[in-house]
Amino acid sequence: MRIASARRLRGTCSVPGDKSISHRAALIASLAEGVSTLENFSTAADCAATLSCLAGVGIRLGQDGTTVRIHGGKLRPPNRPLNCGNSGSTMRMMAGRLASEDFECTLTGDTSLSERPMARIIEPLEMMGARLRSDNGRPPLTIHGSDRLAAIEYESSAPSAQVKTAVLLAGLRAQGRTAIRESVGTRDHTERMLQWFGVALETGSTVTAVNGPARLFAAHLKIPGDFSSAAYFIAAAAMLPASDIEIVGVGLNSTRTQLIDVLRSCGAEIQTVDVREPCNEPVGTIRVRGCTFQHASSNVIEGPKTAALIDELPLLAVVGTQVPGGLVVRDAGELRFKETDRVAATVKNLRAMGARIEEFEDGFSVDGPMRLQGATIQTFGDHRIAMAFSVAALVAEGESEITDAASVAVSFPDFFARLESLVER
Ligand code: S3P
Repeated sequence: MRIASARRLRGTCSVPGDKSISHRAALIASLAEGVSTLENFSTAADCAATLSCLAGVGIRLGQDGTTVRIHGGKLRPPNRPLNCGNSGSTMRMMAGRLASEDFECTLTGDTSLSERPMARIIEPLEMMGARLRSDNGRPPLTIHGSDRLAAIEYESSAPSAQVKTAVLLAGLRAQGRTAIRESVGTRDHTERMLQWFGVALETGSTVTAVNGPARLFAAHLKIPGDFSSAAYFIAAAAMLPASDIEIVGVGLNSTRTQLIDVLRSCGAEIQTVDVREPCNEPVGTIRVRGCTFQHASSNVIEGPKTAALIDELPLLAVVGTQVPGGLVVRDAGELRFKETDRVAATVKNLRAMGARIEEFEDGFSVDGPMRLQGATIQTFGDHRIAMAFSVAALVAEGESEITDAASVAVSFPDFFARLESLVER
């Protein structure tokens, strides 16, 4: 994909349904009594992997465009391994779903997923009584669940909403109170979704608990647009003065929207309007006007802020090149365990575009403001690297080439078409 520099972004668009929420909706609906209807289900390949894994263990589902119907019910042993594709969310959360089923099931993934750490879910699920085998903590992952899981209190070592979700999904079927404690709060979509399906759960800023066995009831919901997909358009518009865009129907859950705060602190004019909370998740319209950035009020992103911005960090590095004084990101060691090592990929590609960026084990420090130069971008098959550097290409001088651009389908299949519909050159 070749992308030339842009003058500004203008217009109105929407983004596909939220990927994180779609995974959870499908998994949780599979536990509910009755037929659930999930509107605006994500078009991401990752979410299709979750649906196909559920179908593989006997869940009946129907799909009409972006509306998915899920018949909750008993799972049956699969006759072949379930393929999670590129999706770490699918593998980790599905493991939590399978932990309470008394049969054996193997989860596999593509080359990237096969390198990703699974010990973080193996440990708590084994403590609950499921048996798991892996290749030294990496996929393939074989789960032999138990219909007599024990409730646990667990302190998660990694700041991970996927781990929290795996433990809570297993806890729904365990005997007693399963609690998970996090040192840093992570996205709370699972908690909100469980409530929507009728589960009373304890929620605090760092502890979440469910009482099992819990009954869930089928629900109807409309999934908000994915903020992490909208983030690319928001950042591009913010960096190009004279831009003026609106993104409608986007999820505005505050555990996801920190990027807005960072961009506002650099002077971008960003408004959220028409905010509602129809299905226990806030949703609204985001309006962005571009500007020439000023010094960020705080140019160091660390601790809980880093955890909340985890999927936006490669994009923030690009933003940092336009901020006087640049941006520093710390406490982002987890970024090295994503679809690729996103610290290394970000540093390599920004350097190719002429940026000054220092790499740390747990993050980076990027200088700004500067004019990036068009370059050939190596995505390493990672959708977020492809999208972040497509945005970099818009603010760079000359043309850039994004290799393996098809990887965007992992979260946002029509990313390039929607981006082009907003771009003015
Ligand atoms: C996700 C949680 C985050 C995030 C991923 C989606 C989720 O991963 O990076 O894209 O849906 O729970 P971790 O749980 O590994 O932090």
